[in-house]
Amino acid sequence: NSVSPQPEVDIVSRTPPYHRLITKLHEVRRVLGDSRKLTLAEKILYSHLDHVEESLLSNTNNCKEIRGNANLKLKPDRVAMQDASAQMALLQFMSCGLASTAVPASIHCDHMIVGEKGADADLPNSIAGNKEVFEFLESAAKKYGIEFWPPGAGIIHQSVLENYSAPGLMMLGTDSHTPNAGGLGAIAIGVGGADAVDALVDAPWELKAPRILGVRLEGELTGWASPKDVILSLAGQLTVRGGTGFILEYFGPGVQSLSCTGMATICNMGAEVGATSSLFPFSPAHVPYLEATHRGPIAKAASNIASAPMAMNLLRADPEAVYDKVVTINLSALEPHINGPFTPDLSTPLSRFKSLVEEQDWPKKFNAGLIGSCTNSSYQDMTRSEELVKQASAAGLKPKVDFFITPGSEQIRATLDRDDTLSTFSSAGGTVLANACGPCIGQWTRTDGIKKGESNAIFTSYNRNFPGRNDGNRATMNFLASPELITAMSYSGSTTFNPITDSIPTASGTPFKFSPPKGSDLPSAGFSEGNPDFFPTPGFPEPSVEVSIDPKSTRLAKLDPFPAFPNSELTSLRVLYKVKGQCTTDTISAAGPWLKYKGHLPNISENTFIGAVNAATDEVNVAYDLDGTQSGIPELGKRWRDKGQEWLVVAEHNYGEGSAREHAALQPRYLGGRLILAKSFARIHETNLKKQGIVPLTFANEADYELFNACDEVSTRGLLDTLRSGGKGKIELVIKKDGGEKVVNTKHTLSEDQCGFILAGSALNLLAMRSRE
Ligand code: F3S
Repeated sequence: NSVSPQPEVDIVSRTPPYHRLITKLHEVRRVLGDSRKLTLAEKILYSHLDHVEESLLSNTNNCKEIRGNANLKLKPDRVAMQDASAQMALLQFMSCGLASTAVPASIHCDHMIVGEKGADADLPNSIAGNKEVFEFLESAAKKYGIEFWPPGAGIIHQSVLENYSAPGLMMLGTDSHTPNAGGLGAIAIGVGGADAVDALVDAPWELKAPRILGVRLEGELTGWASPKDVILSLAGQLTVRGGTGFILEYFGPGVQSLSCTGMATICNMGAEVGATSSLFPFSPAHVPYLEATHRGPIAKAASNIASAPMAMNLLRADPEAVYDKVVTINLSALEPHINGPFTPDLSTPLSRFKSLVEEQDWPKKFNAGLIGSCTNSSYQDMTRSEELVKQASAAGLKPKVDFFITPGSEQIRATLDRDDTLSTFSSAGGTVLANACGPCIGQWTRTDGIKKGESNAIFTSYNRNFPGRNDGNRATMNFLASPELITAMSYSGSTTFNPITDSIPTASGTPFKFSPPKGSDLPSAGFSEGNPDFFPTPGFPEPSVEVSIDPKSTRLAKLDPFPAFPNSELTSLRVLYKVKGQCTTDTISAAGPWLKYKGHLPNISENTFIGAVNAATDEVNVAYDLDGTQSGIPELGKRWRDKGQEWLVVAEHNYGEGSAREHAALQPRYLGGRLILAKSFARIHETNLKKQGIVPLTFANEADYELFNACDEVSTRGLLDTLRSGGKGKIELVIKKDGGEKVVNTKHTLSEDQCGFILAGSALNLLAMRSRE
């Protein structure tokens, strides 16, 4: 018998530090008092606090008011990064000068692989097109002791579930769907690169204490209903913003009936309602999943903790814990749902979908069914879909639309290959794509002749369906559903087909009707490890490795530290631009074609503020120099920076709203920005600005916005003292105008730590200074 190679599993680095966490839990109970009962999310989160008392009671003296008020300073156990966002995270980490990461970390090359013809052709093409980026990531991973999963090894969230997630773990991931790991009882939060660096260098990571939304599950899924339908239905109830500021904590008797991977699907899509994270309690399904993925000792340790007395039970909520809100879902009565198009919260039960298609005049035919991805490529998902394909094949049917299958990892692909699931799909005409994001993130080259701008419909089992998300065509209507429902519908090609009630004509004349799908949660022969070329590199630092960055590269550039704050007030700043109306992170740093420059700050800075409206002229991205010369905003920024002219931007409300894109703070700083004065800020972006050494100020009197014009000369008064006193003090801005001065009062939210960032030039500079001490 030949023994197939096994990846080495470092069980020690993959086991959460249970002993330390339980000791911290005791401390949390001491600070809050025994009468304050804790939800599971609170137990895990608060057990990861750096200084328990200081954090919990920051901004409040009342232990009932921690959620929504306290600034938690957390020490996560682990970091995972995908290839697109890992670039800037690593460049920032490198500038700290440390020899290795402070916590275990992993990099997953998944976002830059295009889906087109199938894995065998697509993978080599994508590797060739992104060679220098992959080489950079691999060399940096080796040098600093980060496990590197090469292109084709799998999608970050699936690989994390199979290898790193564990009950009670807290991790950060540089991707919105990081909470997928909550299916295995971890608190996993999606963040930007600078936040990941906090954890990588052992600095506390700050989070406003989330509120907790309890989702009580009752009953048991039956027939066509799947875990995907739990979150599709919940998204309809909560809407895309309903989870903002919350952790979704699932509980109730229905949890017992769900597979581990099904729980991961549900947690993955908590991002679609804006939740900070989602998690499930330790459940019977976790044990066989951990054992099947070579983590039996973790299953054992977690089982012991979960059966311990409540005082030291890290893995179950206190029975009398209070949630900020509770939503109840009866799994036994749950119907399959279809969500979309264009937004994940437009949720329709299958039985009503046909009439909605007719009412809305949506297309009656659809062009493609896509199943799998990070959200839904488990053994359970795929075997339930396979069983439907077998039913239809036995009736002589083939899918009527293009049918794509994306395995989430090499482990699941190899297992499905061994068990003939993939050959069932291929024989039916399906195309198996690479183990990567592909069409889920717009990396889909369509070959069905649909042109940009042409209206058409597709069904996917992915998680996002904003316009343009899958194929770059904003007119493509993406409907989200479970993989099994999409598989069945692909055999009809009709958006109005309901496999529970409708049948499909066959050549023999006998109408064919699907029976409800059946599958297996886990492979009876265990998981196959697959191609050893896709095993990760070990997580040991190799200091002698040179990090590979070609000085002539257009996609990667080393970061130079930003200059420290001067030993004086900021004098003679100039207003680069006065922005009118909305100024999102997309306005400040546009996405789309610019994404390929994420690792090259000079090149991506060419898009800085290109979406901003000029308050004086209503023009977009049109700035004027002191002598009236007209140019784009990035050009003027660069010209001023090169002359040593530092600048500020004046803006209106909610500056920096939108996705938490750290480039929107890095780029203005790189171009010489020192200060942003706005009517108000989006909270996460305000913190990002401070991390990059930019001072965010708001008007004490909003009407003073009118006092400013582009090119005005502005000085600060009181800023230096405020920074030196750790945030205590008043900051005024003085505008030189018509031979005189106008004084503008401002407000700030600078904490002591953040003053340190600004004085040092950036949070990274401060970390680098501390690491040298
Ligand atoms: Fe994200 Fe989809 Fe990849 S949700 S991780 S883009 S598979």
